[in-house]
Amino acid sequence: MAKMEVDYTKYFAQLHESLSPSGALLVSLDENNRPNAMTIGWATLGVVWSQPICTVLVRPSRYTYGCINATGDFTVCVPYPEMRDVADFCGTRSGRDYDKFAECDLTALASETVQSPGIEECGVIWECRTIYTSDVKAETLAAEIDNSAYAGGDYHRVYYGLVQRCIADEDLEERFAV
Ligand SMILES: Cc1cc2nc3c(=O)[nH]c(=O)nc-3n(C[C@H](O)[C@H](O)[C@H](O)COP(=O)(O)O)c2cc1C
Repeated sequence: MAKMEVDYTKYFAQLHESLSPSGALLVSLDENNRPNAMTIGWATLGVVWSQPICTVLVRPSRYTYGCINATGDFTVCVPYPEMRDVADFCGTRSGRDYDKFAECDLTALASETVQSPGIEECGVIWECRTIYTSDVKAETLAAEIDNSAYAGGDYHRVYYGLVQRCIADEDLEERFAV
């Protein structure tokens, strides 16, 4: 299915729907230029510094952490509801041990504005360049979040991605009604 360029806010509802419970997919490139997909349950889309921003949160223990830090860019991809097994696999296996694109039969779709590719089989893709990062710190975090999300430490780094381009399948709304 052909993808068309769309306003970055147009399919927010589909992103939101995908995040929970199954997850969206965050793609970055490793040092061998191999794409790696990681399932994410947390992301925001909005305006910061008058810019279109997508933020994602990645724990230092993830293979993705080293990849995204090195390249300075990433894509966020919305899988269709029937791709739940892909989100499960990419959320429970590491790119250190698996070529997740090969294991899940995913096709890397070259981005126009960043090095990290998108995923052809996904319905919406945001191409993002990291313009700021911030590490979550216990000292300034509400105690209830610290207790619920960080019992094991491994505090996320938050990546502010400048959305450079958003593309979506032409028939997205028929296939992913929300
Ligand atoms: C539904 C779901 C949502 C997740 N959300 C995140 C997230 O937002 N940030 C994060 O660091 N890990 C998240 N994870 C865990 C990673 O996807 C998982 O540890 C993955 O295996 C890491 O892959 P990598 O080592 O190839 O980077 C999530 C897992 C699932 C199943």
